[in-house]
Amino acid sequence: MADRPALEMLLPEEAAKRLGSGPVDAGPYHDPAWFEDEREAVFRRSWIHVGHACEVPEPGCFIRRELEYARASLLIVRGKDGAIRAFHNVCTHRGTQLTQEAQGKRSTFSCRYHMWTFGADGALLSAPDFERFGLEKSACGLKQVHLEACAGLLFVNFAKQPDQSLREFLGDIADELELLPLSRTVEFDEYTFEIDANWKIYVDNFQENYHLRFIHPNTGAAAAGPENPLAYPTHYGFSGPHRGQTLWRNPSPPQLPPTLRMAMERGLKAAGRDGFPPRKTDFKLFPAMFVLGLASHMFTHTVYPISVNRTRGVIRFYWPNRATDASTRFAREFSVASVRDVHAEDRGVIEAGQGGLGAGVLDVIHFQDHEMLCRHLNEQVRLRVEALRAERNA
Ligand code: FES
Ligand SMILES: [Fe+2]
Repeated sequence: MADRPALEMLLPEEAAKRLGSGPVDAGPYHDPAWFEDEREAVFRRSWIHVGHACEVPEPGCFIRRELEYARASLLIVRGKDGAIRAFHNVCTHRGTQLTQEAQGKRSTFSCRYHMWTFGADGALLSAPDFERFGLEKSACGLKQVHLEACAGLLFVNFAKQPDQSLREFLGDIADELELLPLSRTVEFDEYTFEIDANWKIYVDNFQENYHLRFIHPNTGAAAAGPENPLAYPTHYGFSGPHRGQTLWRNPSPPQLPPTLRMAMERGLKAAGRDGFPPRKTDFKLFPAMFVLGLASHMFTHTVYPISVNRTRGVIRFYWPNRATDASTRFAREFSVASVRDVHAEDRGVIEAGQGGLGAGVLDVIHFQDHEMLCRHLNEQVRLRVEALRAERNA
């Protein structure tokens, strides 16, 4: 484990000095051609979080994931050897999707069309009248996609040969993630949002506090104090394409609304009773995943582009054991619902952002010192798209 922090933490003004302060091009937030290049340059060539090892606990357990950015349906399966692999959900005979089930457990996968049957390791096991094809079975296995794990979190990479392993991609953040209780988790609660907005407008909303006071009058106001009325973080952190921040600690926080206080207390109780005290963590992994450990919750929030102006967010709360009694179940549901309420407040402004940017009347948008994480994402995306375009033109 590295003895330096996983992120280089900078004061906002230092970050601004590094990243600049000029206006940025508004086109990437609504231009369909730019989005097509992002699919390849940003998403298909990066390690994208798709699930957790606890979803495939035993050999034969599988989950299906629809990843629109890659126009792919994936089967993520634990093999007899215990390894977790990702395959395209595509029969190698004539391309029929093998399963529509979201998850399950099977020792083999049979295509219903002509009964080609594959093992949990993707190998073609049998096919009726196979001799008539003049093929070797070994050449007909399911098409595999690179899958690697860190702290139980599963990531896939669609590059033919990724230029970095997952650990190289995450850098020192990998060590930090492994210190989190994520790898011990056995259960999670999940909710998803689909939003009419470009994925970067969605992600940017969750990496600046500038809006808290206005969009979240209850929680945002509670996070602020007279010394810091907009509840700005104290530092912004960077590591390669990844980001993070240090939240400001209000020395005299005002009373939270009763329902939220109850959620916090119950969340803490659920976490504490489970012996699962989350480490304080706030990582924003490139391109679009948040890992947040608060005193009361350990959650991930992953953002998947569906199209240039449609995006899905998947939010998960991780727990170390099964909720076996009603009060634990209630405490967890209450915590999740409270955070979901706050996220619901964001939805309207994210979609309104797309409404405005999509109109195409702005050539540029602006980021201030406390929107440095948005600027950093914008820059990282731009560098990759420009590199892909240069590669194509070369
Ligand atoms: S397409 Fe799957 S067996 Fe024919
Ligand atoms: Fe918000």
